[in-house]
Formats: sequence, C-alpha cells, structure tokens
Amino acid sequence: MPPSGLASDTILCGDAYELIRDIPDDSVHLVITSPPYFRQRDYGAGIGGEERVEEYVDALLRLFRECVRVARPDGSIVFNVGDKYLRGSLSLTPYRFAIAASEIDGVRLVNEVTWVKRNPTPRQFRRRLVSSTEPFFHFVTSDDYYYDIAAFLADGAKRRSPKNGRNVGRSYFAKIDASELTDAQKAKARAELSAAIQEVHDGEITDLRMKIRGIHAEAFGGQEGGRASQLARNGFTIIRLRGEKLKRDVIQTPVETVRNSIHPAIYPVRVVREFVRLLTPPGAVVLDPFMGSGSTAVACVAEGRRYVGFELNPDYCREAEARLSG
Ligand SMILES: C[S@@+](CC[C@H](N)C(=O)[O-])C[C@H]1O[C@@H](n2cnc3c(N)ncnc32)[C@H](O)[C@@H]1O
Repeated sequence: MPPSGLASDTILCGDAYELIRDIPDDSVHLVITSPPYFRQRDYGAGIGGEERVEEYVDALLRLFRECVRVARPDGSIVFNVGDKYLRGSLSLTPYRFAIAASEIDGVRLVNEVTWVKRNPTPRQFRRRLVSSTEPFFHFVTSDDYYYDIAAFLADGAKRRSPKNGRNVGRSYFAKIDASELTDAQKAKARAELSAAIQEVHDGEITDLRMKIRGIHAEAFGGQEGGRASQLARNGFTIIRLRGEKLKRDVIQTPVETVRNSIHPAIYPVRVVREFVRLLTPPGAVVLDPFMGSGSTAVACVAEGRRYVGFELNPDYCREAEARLSG
C-alpha cells in the first residue's frame, strides 16, 4: 500500500524536512537517496552549505532519523554521501555520518557498497590520485529486512562454469604431503579432497579451494566460524564453490549523463536499480527525500516499484517530471 497521507508515484516540490513529517511510521520499503554533499555544490538552498562538517552531519542525521521512522521494519535505508577535501585533507564526511547513524538506537549498517565510477572526471593531480569511488551505506533496523540477493547484479552475473579439467584440485595432494599434518590428518585430508574432486566431476559443485595449516596463510583475523574449527581440529578445510557468482559489495558503472539536464550531480539509475531489486519486492514504495533530477523515480518505474520524492528546487522538480514523462 502507498503510505497513507501521500500518494505514491509523486514528486513533491518542497523541503524534505517538512514533507517527510506527513509520511506515516513504518510505511516505506526503501529510502534511497543522495543528499547534497558537504560544500560541494550550490543548489540554491537546502543543506550542504554549512560552515563546519559537524553541522552538516547533524543536519543529515536529523533527516536520517525521520527515514528510520518511516522505514518499515523489513525495510532499508541507503544513503550515498560523498567526501570533500578541506585544506588539503579528506574530511571523511561519509564516515562521520555513517558512524553517527549506526550509533542510533536499533540502527545497523549492513554494508558499505562502493560505487566505482568507470569514467571519473579526468584531473591531473601531481600529489594525489583521482577519486573514483563513492560509498552507498545500507542501514536496517531489524534482522528481517527484505533481501533478494539473487536479484543483485543479476544481469552481469555469469554463473561460474564448472571446472571439468581432470586436474582440478590435484595440486593439493602434493601440498598435503608437504604439510606438517599428522599421518592421520593427511589421510583424512586426502580422502576428503578425493571426495570433493569427485563432486566437481559429477557436477555437484563447480570448483573447490583447500586451506592446509602451515601451507596456506590464514585469513587476516582468522577464518570464519566453522572453518576456523575445522582448521584447528583437522589441520585443513575444503571450500566448495557452488556456481553462484560472488556477490561483492561493489557496483561499477559509468557516471550518468542525462541529455539536456541542468542538474549537476546525477547518480546512476543503474546503481539505484540494483538496490531496488536487492531490497524491495515488486510494487514496493521507495522514498527519495532529495530527488534531484528524478533518477530514483526513473529506476522505480523501470523495476515496477512505486516512488515518493521530495525536491526543494522547482527547476529540478520540473526536470524530474520531464524525465519521467519523456
Ligand atoms: C545530490 S542531489 C540529488 C541528485 C539525484 N540523486 C539525481 O540523480 O538527480 C541533492 C538534491 O537535494 C536537493 N535538496 C537540498 N536540500 C533539500 C531539502 N531540504 N529538501 C529537498 N531537497 C533538497 C538539491 O536541490 C539537490 O537537487
């Protein structure tokens, strides 16, 4: 259902801080937005022009708290916040915000998803590198958040093709022999490796990896959960790969260019579509309190979700409406 008090598929021209008050508690599946960055651009009004980064983060948190209020218990909140050099030093504004937001009672930060810009603005800095990434922070307020991981990056997600070479996994036998494992552990390792290799040949798994104590470096901070105890108990562990491409916390796309746009900071529809598919069911209601040129709404239409947006600048409101009707 659309949030009562506001019709869905609407962009309201006005102040997000005022308009969000009309949205009932627990009514929105996803809030996804890119607020004005700290001292980056002049949108004519609104937030972003504060003197100090602390004031900016406070302003952002006031809106974020309202987003927490309106998000359903199975919903999510995604904020894209960019950084800014001040007196030659990164201000770490995104992280100041993310730390403060994740300290709000009940709020958890699930991921920092990095948007990698394939075509960053070319610059010739002599003493630093060109920034080409931005974080999208994914927050939730419960363990029951909607999550369709199969839908994330599904287009480009080629399944791993099964390894059918006769040599798959064979090199681990020599490593077992060379290891410091006891004879009993070596025998067990050989038997389990043979079984896993057979599973690859039978098509039950697509590939395997083996970690052997003293041969392979342990992951920094140790192996996770069951693997740590397997390594401790048996001296080895076998990781079975089952065909799904790894879903990494990275989205790579070009920077968006929208023909005849007057908006200076458009985020890619492609990135928003990934989050919409990952975090909402079809027909869900998505809110963008800083709608700008309407990218979130365009993504929702493409994915069959409903949108509610706010935008302070009437010129951008008109641009968003034109994008949606064009
Ligand atoms: C970074 S832009 C969003 C761009 C948008 N994601 C897109 O792809 O077009 C931030 C927008 O927030 C608007 N804004 C600033 N303060 C606002 C406020 N208090 N209420 C509503 N909109 C505001 C600005 O006019 C600007 O268009």
